Amino acid sequence: MKRISLTQHLIEEQRLHDSIPAELRLLIEVVARACKTISHSVGKGALGDVLGTAHSENVQGEIQKKLDIISNEILLEANEWGGHLAAMASEEMETIHPIPNRYPKGEYMLLFDPLDGSSNIDVNVSIGTIFSVLKAPEGMATPTEQDFLQPGTKQVAAGYAVYGPQTMLVLTTGNGVKCFTLDREMGSWVMTQRDIKIPEETSEYAINASNARHWYPPMQQYFNELQAGKTGVRGRDFNMRWIASMVADVHRILNRGGIFMYPADKREPDKAGKLRLMYEANPMAFIVEQAGGAATDGKGRILDIAPHTLHQRVPVFLGSRSEVERVTAYHKA
Ligand code: AHG
Ligand code: MN
Ligand code: MN
Repeated sequence: MKRISLTQHLIEEQRLHDSIPAELRLLIEVVARACKTISHSVGKGALGDVLGTAHSENVQGEIQKKLDIISNEILLEANEWGGHLAAMASEEMETIHPIPNRYPKGEYMLLFDPLDGSSNIDVNVSIGTIFSVLKAPEGMATPTEQDFLQPGTKQVAAGYAVYGPQTMLVLTTGNGVKCFTLDREMGSWVMTQRDIKIPEETSEYAINASNARHWYPPMQQYFNELQAGKTGVRGRDFNMRWIASMVADVHRILNRGGIFMYPADKREPDKAGKLRLMYEANPMAFIVEQAGGAATDGKGRILDIAPHTLHQRVPVFLGSRSEVERVTAYHKA
């Protein structure tokens, strides 16, 4: 099979669909390069002194791991100087990071979850990086947090890297979903899937069921029906998987179907769910929709949500269309 590199793919996309201007290509390549560096650190583990906690807290009150901070720094440094960005935002930074004045500015804005699945770092289980790309609003002078608060439909690109047995990059620019595998010897990203499609039907679900007693009734009803399997209203058995790295769970679902859920619960009613809209739910929803799946917050399409803060949380139901529609219907009833 002829090897198509990430660069070649991006150039061909631009020629065919006029959808990836040179600055956006640079941005995607720089993010991909940063993910290569993160992958290298992840792979070193204890030998690179990257495991364990950093003894600091992020804005969400979570204890940061060393790799959360290292990955954040790698992405910031890689993206600062290229001239393609106006500003960045990250799970690990309280507020936005405008491009310093010593560098030229571009028209894009980059958001990321530098290290997704932090609880899995120290136990050598798959983790990842998630990113989302927006355009700076027309006439923006000095970027502010407000400029980032655009609905997910405005994303011009989104992707994730998964650091597992293989390191992969999954990418959409609004024209389907492509997957690239890192050739570690050559140091290059090689396309290994051209058009990922999520199977419409599934018998596999992903949820942290230890929270079941805190859920609201629609979630409990849906879950009880899945658990009842053949003996209940669904009339067939379902299987369960939960990796606790959204990237790894979504990657499985892209490849063999399934539904991923992180619902809101009664413990902290004003914190709607655990996952963050701007750099977890939105990019994943964009990818999942581009792969023919669906993504809702239980009420409507995630991509249509008008954000009000950078770190806002959102309930997430995404994956195979039939199950996402069903659980969403229960919430609407
Ligand atoms: P992060 O490591 O970026 O904070 O994200 C972790 C998220 C997500 O990746 C995963 O699906 C979920 O948290 C796991 O939550 P539980 O620990 O509640 O299972
Ligand atoms: Mn995350
Ligand atoms: Mn994270």
